[in-house]
Amino acid sequence: MRRRFLVALGGAALALSLAACSGGGAGSGGDTSDKKPGDLTIGVSMPTQTSERWIADGNAVKQKLEAKGYKVDLQYAGDDIPTQSQQVDQMITQGADVLIIAAIDGTALSGQLQAAADAKIPVIAYDRLIRGSKNVDFYVSFDNYKVGVAQGTGLLVGLGLLNKDGSKGTAKGPFNVELFAGSLDDNNTQYFFGGAMDTLKPFVDAGTIKVKSRQTNIEQVATLRWQQETAQKRMEDLLTSSYNDGAKVDGVLSPYDGISRGIITALQNAGYGSAAKKLPAVTGQDAEIASIKLINDGVQTCTVFKDTRLLADQAVNASEAFLQDKQPQANDTQTYNNGVKVVPAYLLPIVTVYKEEIKSALIDSGYWTAEEVAAGQAKK
Ligand code: GAL
Repeated sequence: MRRRFLVALGGAALALSLAACSGGGAGSGGDTSDKKPGDLTIGVSMPTQTSERWIADGNAVKQKLEAKGYKVDLQYAGDDIPTQSQQVDQMITQGADVLIIAAIDGTALSGQLQAAADAKIPVIAYDRLIRGSKNVDFYVSFDNYKVGVAQGTGLLVGLGLLNKDGSKGTAKGPFNVELFAGSLDDNNTQYFFGGAMDTLKPFVDAGTIKVKSRQTNIEQVATLRWQQETAQKRMEDLLTSSYNDGAKVDGVLSPYDGISRGIITALQNAGYGSAAKKLPAVTGQDAEIASIKLINDGVQTCTVFKDTRLLADQAVNASEAFLQDKQPQANDTQTYNNGVKVVPAYLLPIVTVYKEEIKSALIDSGYWTAEEVAAGQAKK
């Protein structure tokens, strides 16, 4: 089966396939391709339940795999690295046939991945690339650099410097903007911040955007574990240290809805949100329901919607391919170098959601109902 498959492939894909085999993880299909789905278990390791997107991801992957008859071992690690390591170890010893992992710390699972490779268990990195290991067989995610570009663009639109169609807006500036990035141990953070900063750079260079705190390095603006409280505290500190002279914050680059809510709370506590002191433009990511309500109410500017249902589909497709002794279909074989190798990836498109797109992107697609948007809460 493997030989027939390889012969049928073109040169580049062949090299890719061989590279994946030499990684050791892929290729256990020889053992699994004859088995029935009911005899196969997929271990799904998710980082945390504090963010509703990972709950949605976990549920979607589980439901879709179970609908195909597979057994699923779904675990959440409470954002604790040793817990995630232990859970993955256990999945391996209990005989998982494929692992789907959204890592808390992208560099902390090398030991587990080696054990998986030794047991010929293919590993799929889910949304967050696992770094520093040759034993990552596939990556499913969105175009993370484009997420950053969308966030930078959303901020410019919120400030009135650009229109949604990309044309020049009527606002002149200069505007005071503060920057936030995600967790530095998450490989995506660099892509989000890089894409956003590349987009904002011409405006910073022209003096239209000023970062009053002067905190512009990713290390200065990062938010460990993406935590809302950490972001709220940093925004409070920024207001005290850099805006106690009467200056106003006009915009905040935020990489994730939870962080955006922390930022907005700090601003509201400091008196922002009235006609005299308008809330700044604030970006986000993940289309979390609490933030969709804020966007609908005109409090948050926008979010980047990444359809977790489509991501789950790709994780299921990749799992099935490995179980059938095939290579999953990649649409990017260049971008995601994990420090040891370029991991073949399937990247999905993203959608920027301002208030006007809530209906078309989220309600009409069945991601959230109109009632959930109005309530700002997911129905169980
Ligand atoms: C990132 C992910 C984002 C967001 C963030 C915080 O890895 O790509 O969509 O969910 O984690 O959970």
